[in-house]
Amino acid sequence: MNNTVLVGLQWGDEGKGKIIDYLCRDADVVVRFQGGNNAGHTVITNQKKFVFHLIPSGILHKNKICVIGQGVVVDPEILLKEIENLKKVGIPVSKKNLKISNFCHIIMPYHRIIDSLREQKRVEKIGTTKRGIGPCYKDRVSRCGIRMGDFIDPKAFAFKLKDNLREKNPIFKEAYGQKGFRFNSVYNKYKKLAKKIEPFVCDVTDYFYKRQDKKFLFEGAQGTFLDIDAGTYPFVTSSSVVASNALLGSGLAFINIKKRFGVAKAYTTRVGEGPFPTELKAEVLDYLQDEGGEFGATTGRPRRCGWLDLVLLKRAIKVNSINSLIITKLDVLGNLGKIKVCIKYKKSEKIIKNFPYSLENLKPVYKEFRGWNKDISKVKSFSKLPKAAKTYLNFIEKYLGIPINFISVGKDREEILKKRKGEK
Ligand code: GDP
Ligand code: IMO
Ligand code: MG
Repeated sequence: MNNTVLVGLQWGDEGKGKIIDYLCRDADVVVRFQGGNNAGHTVITNQKKFVFHLIPSGILHKNKICVIGQGVVVDPEILLKEIENLKKVGIPVSKKNLKISNFCHIIMPYHRIIDSLREQKRVEKIGTTKRGIGPCYKDRVSRCGIRMGDFIDPKAFAFKLKDNLREKNPIFKEAYGQKGFRFNSVYNKYKKLAKKIEPFVCDVTDYFYKRQDKKFLFEGAQGTFLDIDAGTYPFVTSSSVVASNALLGSGLAFINIKKRFGVAKAYTTRVGEGPFPTELKAEVLDYLQDEGGEFGATTGRPRRCGWLDLVLLKRAIKVNSINSLIITKLDVLGNLGKIKVCIKYKKSEKIIKNFPYSLENLKPVYKEFRGWNKDISKVKSFSKLPKAAKTYLNFIEKYLGIPINFISVGKDREEILKKRKGEK
């Protein structure tokens, strides 16, 4: 069995969507296992751009089963919009190629509102996507969440919704001076959405169990340093994004995942608040934002940009047990005279080589590389890359001690290079 997981090694937006679309040619089932529509995964093919928030990026391929696993939080309106948009452009989506776990938790309108209100009130802001992710996961662990199985059962949904509004409406009024939600209006609107989603809902564990001979590809969302535990807490998302959650978040039994791909950009970006040691403030920032189109696929916010941080990547490789590396957006560095990578940090003159408990107040120590001043997006093989680009990649590989197997050199589906073992 040849199962694969792919996760982001930075703070999200590493290009996971594009790579999943590429890798899924070799898979039967593509599974999202955590997060919700805070994710924005872009796939560009034949000049057409698709941004997936909930549906796995494998949906564009024929004969692939896409699964939304039990660890995902689902906003019904967003899901239905995504399905509708795909159908409009002729991509079939039916219960044959999309399965949704009956254990998924539902993002309700009160989750979205609380997410926004909390951000306004907090002193230590996280800069969330305001999609209701944190409040929904909070209800999950508080054991008052509404799951897909309840949602599609009108009686259970009414009971759970009433119970939630009884608890939440006074909080809206007292803590935020806001009006609460009226049961009837929420119930009537959401009952209709539930009817449309019902055909896709199933016992995913059972479904998987009967298909253990298939090849699974697990699509991570967010990035390692946004993980609720392994990330730069509290500036993180509310789910477990790391590779080890792929099984639990999918609802699968203990199967072997042989290939564990980690995706990193050739530089670093972050959306929202939190420490970022290699963050750039001046011209190079403008260059990366422009050249790399570094504006959020979900919220449109400009992404903070900085040099590649190898101390972080080394940590992410350990955390996820990555055995194959994918570097994306190498083309974006194409017009820079000098390129830097962080190889260690300094804190009050003390050198720090390993990932520290806190990333606050660190000064990056850089190794500098010559740029290659060339458009590489049409290069067709690793060996044809400019020498300076190869030097850059070889250094990354050596520092991290794992092979780079793919290099993405452009937005398009086909703009990707395979690097063979030992290829120079
Ligand atoms: P994800 O969340 O990890 O799937 O990444 P996003 O889709 O949010 O952000 C990645 C962005 O970079 C998207 O706009 C992609 O179209 C784009 N992209 C992906 N790979 C490359 C690449 O190799 N070169 C360039 N120039 N753009 C890329
Ligand atoms: P993909 O899958 C980049 C960030 C938000 C914020 C923090 C918490 O496209 O890589 P949340 O709404 O999850 O409570 O926000 O996490 N964030 C992302 N940043 N890419 C993402 O997803 C993200 N999902 C959440 O900006 O800092
Ligand atoms: Mg994204």
